[in-house]
Amino acid sequence: MDAVQQKIEAGREALRFVFSGMSLGLGTGSTAKEFVTVLGDALKRGELRDIRCTCTSTQTEEQARALNIPLFALAEIAPLDLAVDGADEIDAQLRLIKGRGGALLREKIVEQQAKRFLVIADESKVVARLGVGVLPVEVTPFALDVLHARFTSMGLNPVLRLRDGQPRTTDEGHRILDIRVPDVSDIADVVNDIRQLAGVVETGFFPSEASEALIATPNGVRRMTR
Ligand code: A5P
Repeated sequence: MDAVQQKIEAGREALRFVFSGMSLGLGTGSTAKEFVTVLGDALKRGELRDIRCTCTSTQTEEQARALNIPLFALAEIAPLDLAVDGADEIDAQLRLIKGRGGALLREKIVEQQAKRFLVIADESKVVARLGVGVLPVEVTPFALDVLHARFTSMGLNPVLRLRDGQPRTTDEGHRILDIRVPDVSDIADVVNDIRQLAGVVETGFFPSEASEALIATPNGVRRMTR
């Protein structure tokens, strides 16, 4: 089973956690997209009813609208019964790095409003130590250049996220600096340090949001709990 098939399996498995009448947070990214697809199918077939959803990005909102999934503003349906979303990295303590798809801020807002946050992923996302890849940091445009310089002086090797050759603008109108967590540093310490700096809006480190994870492997879907 390749990674694409694993994402589909994880998305399908997550549907088993959804019941009629629930309020849901819909994640962003290629794995969350598979969940939104099966959710839309289940609603269309009448297997689920009275589901109310809110989205973590305009991208997911477009997909959900096209599938006639009932959408609401977060405040209208919070607290959510369940949020389902992918992740870029997952460690054994269910700590996550998210945001390589650029939706980290809305994701964290929505997922902190959920009574239960289910992560869905293929097994390539499980890591021994967070920070194998970049840690996305959402920053205000005004602070971008000074934060870039500060992160450089901190040894974090910031890189401005681009899209079509232009700085990527998030759904909340910010920019993203992708930083590297030095091997010698603990990610929680690095996040704590940069969160002190004005202009840093949020990071893609999700230390405690996830309740459990469904990890698709070639041998089936494995469940990770806290
Ligand atoms: C979006 O901003 C991200 O947090 C995604 O949830 C994460 O990058 C996982 O995406 P994939 O499922 O596409 O790997």
